[in-house]
Amino acid sequence: MNQKTTRISPEEIARQKDFCAQIHAMNAALPAQPLAYVDTYGCQQNEADSERLRGYLSEMGYGFTGDENAADVIILNTCAIREHAEQRVFGNLGALVHAKRNHPGQIICVCGCMAQEKHVSERIKQSFRHVDLVFGPHALWRFPELLWRIHTRRGRIFDTPDEAGSIAEGIPVRREGKVKAWVSIMYGCNNFCSYCIVPYVRGRERSRQPEDILSEVRALAAEGYKDITLLGQNVNSYGKDLGREGVDFAWLLEQVNAVPGDFLIRFMTSHPKDASERLFDVMAKCEKVAPHLHLPFQAGNDRVLKAMNRGYTREHYLGLIAALRQRIPDIVLTSDIIVGFPGETTEEFEDTLKVLEAVRFDALFTFIYSPREGTPAAKMPDPMSKEEKAANFQRLVDLQNAISAEKQAAYVGKTMRCLVDVLSDDPRHNLNARTAGGRLVHFSGDESLLGQYVDLKITDSSTWALFGELA
Ligand code: 5AD
Ligand code: SF4
Repeated sequence: MNQKTTRISPEEIARQKDFCAQIHAMNAALPAQPLAYVDTYGCQQNEADSERLRGYLSEMGYGFTGDENAADVIILNTCAIREHAEQRVFGNLGALVHAKRNHPGQIICVCGCMAQEKHVSERIKQSFRHVDLVFGPHALWRFPELLWRIHTRRGRIFDTPDEAGSIAEGIPVRREGKVKAWVSIMYGCNNFCSYCIVPYVRGRERSRQPEDILSEVRALAAEGYKDITLLGQNVNSYGKDLGREGVDFAWLLEQVNAVPGDFLIRFMTSHPKDASERLFDVMAKCEKVAPHLHLPFQAGNDRVLKAMNRGYTREHYLGLIAALRQRIPDIVLTSDIIVGFPGETTEEFEDTLKVLEAVRFDALFTFIYSPREGTPAAKMPDPMSKEEKAANFQRLVDLQNAISAEKQAAYVGKTMRCLVDVLSDDPRHNLNARTAGGRLVHFSGDESLLGQYVDLKITDSSTWALFGELA
């Protein structure tokens, strides 16, 4: 594998835009505007990648649809993190046979993390013959060229090079909304947690230059975006690969904080082994940095953490939380947890429950371990039965739900500045807003409030949401 980070040259991106222009000319000659459907699975990095695919598609003259039968180009941007995510993709991909039968010129593409897995691209090659184009995250920047080749030649394309990864600046971005924006600050991961497929499919850690990040944030702030999330698999190691004195994640946060505008800064994901007190100091002093930290701890037992190759102990983790709370007492804390890692006993799992009780997270993302082909954990003995793992998982969820409900109830009676971000799917309220800490609030109000900050008085709460009224 090539271990060097390549920076894709501006000339190369200009060449890709030439392909966009050629496809645009072809599309303009059609009787009606052709449509594209980008179906995104998985994490925010995939959402951000889909915004770039839509940016390219828009330059090619495509309109957008959410209907697979109406689409001329369908892209499934996939996630490989757990088996369940992969099964959903294969299920939906299988069903597209019918869409294509009714629409023979339709082009079907699969990209994202699954596309990069060898056994997946092989399976698509053999058993999903209606798929025209498969490309991995490393090839996303050259999507226009790939689509042009599909349009102009017969035959399928599989472009999934095994490489350390590149950085491409200047790809057009078409964002979903006008309120929240994702900004990738780095790509890839070097941590090789023993259960995780990400380092194998997304390559080595590589940071964007701070100037590129800051000019993107400045443009977003000037356009009126109110909520900007800095993205990376492990944002705390931002800058390590740049070799530029003083450039690290805490420094970058300060620079982003200094960008003029009325917006909040969020970031994910942080790794406990690299989170520092210096970062917490910067979070505390930067007024735009949201009072929220997502800090995955995965498991509460030191033997299990070691087998996971996480690089910290429970004591270190609890020390970080204490140091953070000392600086920002009302910080909102969330985390990721895996139950049923190979060899984890029920007694060891109970150490995870103890961490929940000690920290009292506001919310958790909880997962049952899912073996990923090619990772070290997939080869470890895994004697615990599915039923026992499910029972432990339920204990975890019950404990966290009780904690979440108590923490949510403590908001009732308070008035909080919230950002109104989307229409609500709650039957009693038409709008959703978020507190600075990221808690969801349902309330009723005029739709013109979308994208604005409002003061909401919290009147009620549940495990998952708060309910409020305009103060
Ligand atoms: N099985 C279950 N959960 C996993 N995660 C990552 N890999 C796996 C796996 N093989 C979880 C971790 C990570 C989150 C994004 O997904 O908790 O933090
Ligand atoms: Fe996966 Fe660990 Fe990297 Fe997160 S830090 S992406 S869990 S390997």
